[in-house]
Amino acid sequence: MRVLLVGSGGREHALAWAIAASPLTERLWCAPGNPGIAQHGECVPIGATDIAALVAFAREQAVDLVVPGPEAPLVAGLADACAEVGIACFGPSAAAARLEGSKAFMKEVCAAAGVPTAPSATFVDPDAAKAHVREAGAPIVVKADGLAAGKGVVVAATVAEAEAAIDAFMRDRIHGAAGATVVIEACLAGEEVSFFALCDGRNAIPFGAAQDHKRVGEGDTGPNTGGMGAYAPPPAFTPDLERQVMETIVRPTLAEMARRGAPFRGVLFCGLMLTEAGPRVLEFNVRFGDPECQVLMLRLMSDLVPAMQAACDGVLDRFAVRFLPDPAIVVVMAARGYPGTPETGSEIRGLERAAALPNVQVFHAGTRAEGGRILAAGGRVLAIGATGATLAAARDAAYAAVDAIDWPEGFCRRDIGWRALSR
Ligand code: AMP
Ligand code: GLY
Repeated sequence: MRVLLVGSGGREHALAWAIAASPLTERLWCAPGNPGIAQHGECVPIGATDIAALVAFAREQAVDLVVPGPEAPLVAGLADACAEVGIACFGPSAAAARLEGSKAFMKEVCAAAGVPTAPSATFVDPDAAKAHVREAGAPIVVKADGLAAGKGVVVAATVAEAEAAIDAFMRDRIHGAAGATVVIEACLAGEEVSFFALCDGRNAIPFGAAQDHKRVGEGDTGPNTGGMGAYAPPPAFTPDLERQVMETIVRPTLAEMARRGAPFRGVLFCGLMLTEAGPRVLEFNVRFGDPECQVLMLRLMSDLVPAMQAACDGVLDRFAVRFLPDPAIVVVMAARGYPGTPETGSEIRGLERAAALPNVQVFHAGTRAEGGRILAAGGRVLAIGATGATLAAARDAAYAAVDAIDWPEGFCRRDIGWRALSR
């Protein structure tokens, strides 16, 4: 098979690693890729949202399967454009990608399908939104409807904070058109888990769960990030809970999307809150999580390529995937300044030494190569992964690799996995 992977982060490096390991993979390209991905395939300088150029390249190279990493190309219609020229794409149509692209749409689908989620109301008028907040009281959650690079959610501890968020989203438009509509929802308490299901439009199979660490600082403090580390499996997410989530969240959502003429294909990422009353979906994403994908790939025993192909062919009902029993952990190394403006351009040394340590995989996220050197080129720069017989062993292996990397301008959290490790 000839595969075109789209994206350039740590998630895509992990996908490239898994796709290249498949005996079915004859050639792998990645657009635009990064220096880590270049170890597994050929990087081509096409932007991840340049749909026309991606499809033209796929046709030229007789690509059999397109694998989009991030949501932006999906929301922009990459899967639709592939379908038009008869190329399989492991990802949803733009219409189905609205599950991530519009929180108001996601809430509408959940309501129609009876999927358990936080009670909510959608507003296009800021005064009406504020009146609702004053009536409901705090804590309360204010969400910009559209994509806002993970910054469109405010968990407000007070009514004043919620009103300020409404003004920032709807009047000041800090996230542009994404904030023209807001969803206001009840604040739920519990442990958060990222759960993944492979979907073929009608059928779905579980693809594992992971726990992310969204805050930049140890002890879950400081501003939100794209994710500073992850581990799997999360002990709180029992096999019983997984079955419950498949039956009450994933399958009804798929049925509702099919009923609306927008069948969902690809990976459905359910951001869950495990509340006392049961699992509730906080958000859907239409792609793998980053860094969750890295821990999933570290534990995946099955070949990823036929699983993605089965999703494209609509035959997931005859498919199953297996994971190693060993836990996996990923520690993100970020450039100083992240999640604000990161300092880029510093040199990273010791990558080979780290990668040679037992049970370790070094994934590149925001790096670039220059004259044989690897330089920081983004906020999240590396994702250091490891497996182990226990989570503690995996953690020790990952931090040994972190310590082997010579990059004074970078930082990481030292407490990845704390929830499971302190149980
Ligand atoms: P989202 O992008 O919708 O996942 O929201 C980002 C983060 O905000 C989530 O990971 C949660 O930590 C938090 N969050 C979102 N919705 C809620 C909610 N209804 N109750 C409590 N926390 C929430
Ligand atoms: N790590 C969370 C996400 O990818 O959205």
